[in-house]
Order: sequence, then structure tokens, then C-alpha cells
Amino acid sequence: MSNQVGLLAVTVSLIGGIFWAARSFSSFRTVIKLIPGPECSSWVYGNMPELLLAEEYGLHEYQWQETYGQVYSIKGCLGETRLMISDPSAIKYILNSGLFVLGPSHQKITKLLLGHGNILLARGDAQRRLVNIMNPCFSSNKIRTLLPAIREGAQQLVDRWESLGFPGNTVDISGTLNDAALDVLGSAILEYSFNSLVGESELARIQRNMVQSVSTPTRFQQLLDAALGYIPDPIFRLACHLPIPTMRMIRDYKRATEEFSLHLAAQKREEMGSGMAPGFVGAFVGDGGAPDQEIGVHVRTILAAGQDALGVTLGWILYKLAQMPVLQQELREEIQLATVEHQLDYNKMALLNAIINEVLRVYSPLPLAERVASADCVLPLSKPIVAAAGIEISEIPIQKGQFFYVAIAAYHRLTSIWGPDAAEFRPSRWLGNAPCMGPALGPHASLLSFFGGPGVCLGWRFAILELQVVVVELVSRFVLSLPENDSVKPRVALALRAETAHGTRELPVHIEHVM
Ligand code: HEM
Ligand SMILES: *[C@@H]1O[C@H](CO)[C@@H](O)[C@H](O)[C@H]1NC(C)=O
Repeated sequence: MSNQVGLLAVTVSLIGGIFWAARSFSSFRTVIKLIPGPECSSWVYGNMPELLLAEEYGLHEYQWQETYGQVYSIKGCLGETRLMISDPSAIKYILNSGLFVLGPSHQKITKLLLGHGNILLARGDAQRRLVNIMNPCFSSNKIRTLLPAIREGAQQLVDRWESLGFPGNTVDISGTLNDAALDVLGSAILEYSFNSLVGESELARIQRNMVQSVSTPTRFQQLLDAALGYIPDPIFRLACHLPIPTMRMIRDYKRATEEFSLHLAAQKREEMGSGMAPGFVGAFVGDGGAPDQEIGVHVRTILAAGQDALGVTLGWILYKLAQMPVLQQELREEIQLATVEHQLDYNKMALLNAIINEVLRVYSPLPLAERVASADCVLPLSKPIVAAAGIEISEIPIQKGQFFYVAIAAYHRLTSIWGPDAAEFRPSRWLGNAPCMGPALGPHASLLSFFGGPGVCLGWRFAILELQVVVVELVSRFVLSLPENDSVKPRVALALRAETAHGTRELPVHIEHVM
């Protein structure tokens, strides 16, 4: 009797098990569950602290990639499964299909900080419309005309270093680099002087506070990030009116940038008849442009997208030059030669561009881009992954809502694409044949640093020119070196930032005049 009950129980559970397995094998979630990945010790935080709060960016992530390959799974907060992607075919699909959007909490924050209708969230026709309006401001012809404004900004940075007494001292250079990035963005793109290097403009101060406060990574913020996704929009909007300091700061930020944008728009409208080529704001004011209320959104987006990324990239270039005195001297010689022979054709300066490209590769300002599938789809892979129980997966069925990280920095370290020394910082790899052995996913040097596809960084040409000009200007005037107790490490907080062993956000560099 008991035997029969036992047999029945076994049979029922077997049938049930097969039924369950069949059902769940056909469901998307289980394919995702088969994809291997690192253990995690906390259900609440998942692998997020190792990914985003590591004391040096990539400490765990690069190890995971080595162990699990180009596609693996990690745990987000509260048990969610997220996919890490550095497979080139999968990345190409994510960039180009138009099906992938920012995650729900980043969407909320982006809407809150920048406003509705910003280009970062736009897809399809709305995105194409905004790209069409903005793109002429960033074409290669237009960018060439911005050279004088960029040079002037670089000169002001040199003057600022002098007036602050930097030469002869070890100083944190990151603040002045961010200020210079804002000033150049203002004068070249928005046709407005922020004067953040020389004076203390209110707008510059507000912009600085904003970047600082949204880029402070903590465990609590990870959790908040996970929780935000579940808060309905109307309640979130209500919460934004709470009288707490962060919300007050955000309201101040929006009020100040709104006033500033309306002022620019009015000024542009006055100039319209005068035959001047429209700049960024002018393009929106002009025919087929946008109502004035919309302009603040786009101005904030440009400031958010451009300033921080430029500031941190400049910092990493100077840091590596300070760390590598021989390289720095070779660059100085290239600059001297270029100045004599031709009128500084930046694109012909092989070493300068090699250094910039190598920093964009190894210190990609955005090392990780989150994306969520907005519809069911099938993710192609360039090579199959071997999942649990030896099952081969050559494409991954994806359910709407699945969370991804496009692992930009990790992609830049794939030996299959960048060669056996991919993890090493070696600018000379750019001096011979192009080092990328994979598809060109991004617009510049096959790098993914500026993203790619329809959501590609619009400011990439401008960014490259500004990096070229500022680095040439600084290296021809100053000799950089690292202090003996240098402890700077890259950490991610929106962008890849320099942090010392004290946990402070700074980039201490010793500066001397060129003899
Ligand atoms: C080294 C400097 C820069 C880097 C590495 C960089 C990188 C990026 C990346 C990775 C994105 C995609 C973000 C995402 O969709 O998640 C992006 C978007 C964007 N960037 Fe940049 N950026 C830089 C400088 C600039 C500058 C100077 C400007 C403008 C003057 C700019 C304007 C934009 C705009 C408008 C977008 C939104 C494009 C869209 O969503 O359609 N960027 N950038
Ligand atoms: C390095 O030394 C300077 C001067 O002694 C000191 O102010 C600074 O805090 C030190 N930095 C680190 C990261 O130890």
C-alpha cells in the first residue's frame, strides 16, 4: 500500500516535473535562468554592489567576463535577473533595433532632471525629429568653425592654472577641467559665456551641484534605483514637490536653466533676420523647431550629456600622461613639430590621437549603459553560449521588460577583438593598423565609448576636437607628474570618475612649467 502511494507520488511529481519543465522551457524567463553568472550573497542587493560600488571599476566585472564570457547573468536588487552583454552581435542589435530603452527608474530621473521630450528617452519618429534639428550643429563642417571658441576656452584654462598658482604644486585638477568643459560647451554650442573658470557664475554653481549630487553612489541608492521603477508616475511627480533639500535643489536647477534657456531663445529670435547661421538654440527657435517651453529641456540635455563626459575624459588623459612621462615628452615633441610644419592639423597628430583613443577605450567615460527591452524579441549572438547542463544557446528569446547592461568598458577589453593585451593601456596599438578586429559599433575608431546606432552621441566630433585642442594647449605649457602617494582609481558614478584612497573625488597631479 505504502509502496503504491510512494510510486504514485513519484509518478505524479515526475509528470508534474516534466510538465513544469516543458512549460518553463518554452517561457523566456527560463532561458535567461539557464545563462550562467556569478554567485551572489545578497538577495536584496544582488551583484549590484560588486558591479557599481567596487573600489576600482571592473574589479569583479572584468573577472566575471573572463569566467563567463560575452553574455552572462547577474542579479539586480530584489532577485531580478539582469544580462551583461559584450557580445558584438548582441550589442549591435541592442543599439540598432530601436527596441531598447533606459530602465524605468532612470527614465523617471531623466524626466525629472531634464524634462519631458528629451532626446535621451526619445525613440522612433520623435528621436529622428530631434536628431534632425540638432545634427547640423554637430556636423564636421560646423565643428570646424568652432575651433576659435574651443582654443579660447583652452587658453582660459591655461590662464586659470597660472592664476591659481598650480605650477610648482600638487593640485586637484578635476574642478578646473569640468569648469573648462562647461565654458567651452557654453561658448561654442550654446553661444553663451558661463564664465565658470574665471568667475563664479550662479548657473555654473548650480550645474556643478547637480552633477555632484546625482553622481554619489551608495548601496542605498542602488536600492532606491530598484524601488523607483515600481513607483507609479503620478506618485513620483507628487514626491518631487516634497520640501526636501534634493527636490529643492532640482527645482532651483530647473528654474535657473529654464530662465537661461528662454533668455537664449529670445536673443536668437532677435538675431534671426540678421543672416547669422543658427546655432543649437537657433535651430530650435527656427522654422519647424520647437515651442520655447521645449528649449530648456534640450539645453539641459546638452549640458548633462556633454559637460561631465568631457570633463572626466580630459582628466583621465592628463592622469595617464602624468603617469607616463616618456609618452608625455613624445607628445610634446609631436606638438612642437606639428606647430612648425603646418598650422596644427590635429587629425594628423598620430600620437595625440592614439592617446585620446586609448583613454576612450580603457577609461570609457560611460563604462556601462543600461537598457530594457520594450518588446519581446530575440537577441542574436556572435557565438553560442554554453548554458547549464551543457545546453548551447545561439540566440536568446527576450521578454519585454528584461534588463541589460551594455558592458562598454568590458567590450573594450575583449581579447578576441582588441588583441591579447586588450586589458593593457598601450596607446601605440593605434599607431599601426587599426587595432579593432571586430565590427565598427561606434562612430569613432570602432570604439563603443560614444555608443552607436540611432542613439549615438551627437557631440562626438566636437568632443574629439575639444580633447585634442585642450590637451595640446596644456601639454605645451605644463609638465605633469603624479605625486608619490598617488592612489587614484577609476570608479563609476554616472561617469567614470577619479577617486583617491581617501574616497574623495579628486585628481591630484603635480604641475610644473615646461622649461
Ligand atoms: C568624451 C566625451 C563624450 C562621451 C564619451 C559621450 C558619450 C555618449 C554616450 C555613451 C551617449 C549615449 C548615452 C545613452 O544613450 O545611454 C551619448 C549621448 C549623447 N551625447 Fe555624448 N558624449 C560625450 C560628449 C558629448 C558632447 C560634448 C555633447 C554635446 C555637445 C554630447 C551630446 C550628446 C547627446 C545630445 C546625446 C543623446 C543622443 C541621443 O540620445 O539621441 N556628448 N554620449
Ligand atoms: C598625499 O600627500 C599629500 C601631502 O602630504 C596629502 O595632502 C594627501 O592627502 C595625500 N594623499 C593621499 C591619497 O594619501
